[in-house]
Amino acid sequence: MTINDNFEVIPSGAALGADIVGLDLKKPINKETFERVLDAWNEHLVLRFRNQMLTEEEFVRFSGYFGSLDDGPMVGPGHGTYHPRSAKINVVSNIVSDGVAVGVLGNLDLAWHQDFTYKRLPPIASLLYGIETPETGDTHFCNLNSAYENLPEELIKKIKGLSCKHDATRSLGDTVRPGFDEKYDNVSRPGAIHPLVIKHHATGKEFLFVGRRKNAWIVGLTDKESDELLDEIWAHIEDGSHHWSQRWQPDDIVLWNNRYTLHRRGELDERQSRLLHRIQIRDDTPPIASL
Ligand code: SIN
Repeated sequence: MTINDNFEVIPSGAALGADIVGLDLKKPINKETFERVLDAWNEHLVLRFRNQMLTEEEFVRFSGYFGSLDDGPMVGPGHGTYHPRSAKINVVSNIVSDGVAVGVLGNLDLAWHQDFTYKRLPPIASLLYGIETPETGDTHFCNLNSAYENLPEELIKKIKGLSCKHDATRSLGDTVRPGFDEKYDNVSRPGAIHPLVIKHHATGKEFLFVGRRKNAWIVGLTDKESDELLDEIWAHIEDGSHHWSQRWQPDDIVLWNNRYTLHRRGELDERQSRLLHRIQIRDDTPPIASL
């Protein structure tokens, strides 16, 4: 078997993202090679591996290099939320077959978010594998280190040491999650409280940790103070200089760090079928506060 250790890292040229070119993910990767992939991931936060034709087992095996896999964590209305042959794979799709959605998230135009930050231990990473990939429905990513470092110094001083509550009650599609109520105020709303500025576990770089804008609350502030501060922070996040966009091709695998980046799906033409497989990596340590 040829040795699978020769690859190039080609940065996207934007604030984050790089292509890993030359690795065949069908084949095992040795420890040294994987360490170099990890270094590239720590630097670029989102990695893309193009032209990978993997079986479900191979996709699961490759994902497992990055940590323990969550059982397909996204539940939705259709029966196809999970891959029929792998509990580790969620199906993300707008396809409806015999009246049943084959996956989650449908045609939703998704706002910037990090996944599951309303939990104490948000996942460290997710991978998406493009199966059916239309021209619309790009996935956009935001580098939360570059957004943080470009905040005015006064704002950085103001937010260091603060904590933010991440709303557990509403889904990405803005529906009320089962078991929760419609009406909460910022104090009573369930959700994990995390530091607003966190450190990268390997590089020590600092990142905003904001989850989503909707129903976020900076603990201890009045609603008005919190909204003003969050609006100011989010105005910087929205600045395109911190972003990179993935235009999907079949057989693309994209790996992103969920703690140090935001992602959102751009507009999807509902007449075009889109089908991706998604795997999520756990992290059993909480985000690290930067004080
Ligand atoms: C997600 O938010 O996890 C899905 C992103 C996408 O469908 O592009």
